[in-house]
Amino acid sequence: MTTIGLATERAAVGIAKVYVDTWRSAYAGLLPNRVLLGMSYERQSREWSWVIKNRAEVQPVIVAAEANRGIVGFTSFGLSRVTDRPPGGPFATDSGKHIGEIYTLYVRPEYQERGIGRRLLASAFGAMVQKGYSRSFLWVLRDNPSRYFYERVGGQPIAQRRERLWGCTLDETCYGWTDLTQAVDRLGSCETG
Ligand SMILES: CC(C)(COP(=O)(O)OP(=O)(O)OC[C@H]1O[C@@H](n2cnc3c(N)ncnc32)[C@H](O)[C@@H]1OP(=O)(O)O)[C@@H](O)C(=O)NCCC(=O)NCCS
Repeated sequence: MTTIGLATERAAVGIAKVYVDTWRSAYAGLLPNRVLLGMSYERQSREWSWVIKNRAEVQPVIVAAEANRGIVGFTSFGLSRVTDRPPGGPFATDSGKHIGEIYTLYVRPEYQERGIGRRLLASAFGAMVQKGYSRSFLWVLRDNPSRYFYERVGGQPIAQRRERLWGCTLDETCYGWTDLTQAVDRLGSCETG
């Protein structure tokens, strides 16, 4: 059984493991090997511990845990970052006060395709609705097959961008949800428990 809930500092070690292992599995061939090999559980653990301790209000972290396995997935989110907001359209309006952004969403490879990603996204969107956000978006590598997950869970492809990171050119697609209340209803009605 998978439980979904807010992360405590103790979860940081498990989150770091999910983060590093999932990056290495999902981004092999998409990001340079040196970046993936250079990742460290310890460093990620310190960083996530800091986020959970110091940014709980502005960047909540929600984890999925399995009884005998610990953390198997997590998401972090918050107010949309100005540099990430797609220009034009419903995500560029006002000061961005009501626009949320999913910063990270990862499920361990061996736990994917069991409905955990959907439940994490539903929880994040639910928390955003409670904070008064009406819309949300996220950016995903265009060549990452996981982007089809976002189409499956109601995201609309709304923008493209090209970034220079780690010495390579990365094409990214932005997925948006313009009605979070409706998105929560839809995602929630598919809960798999
Ligand atoms: C993307 C990710 C978070 C999805 O989580 P998940 O737990 O595997 O997804 P779910 O099981 O909740 O899938 C929900 C639906 O999307 C579908 N789906 C999931 N991954 C898919 C994919 N790669 N392609 C097509 N459909 C996919 C599922 O089949 C399911 O469909 P259903 O509605 O018919 O049941 C997870 O696969 C992951 O961590 N991927 C690697 C890391 C990554 O790329 N993260 C995104 C960074 S922004």
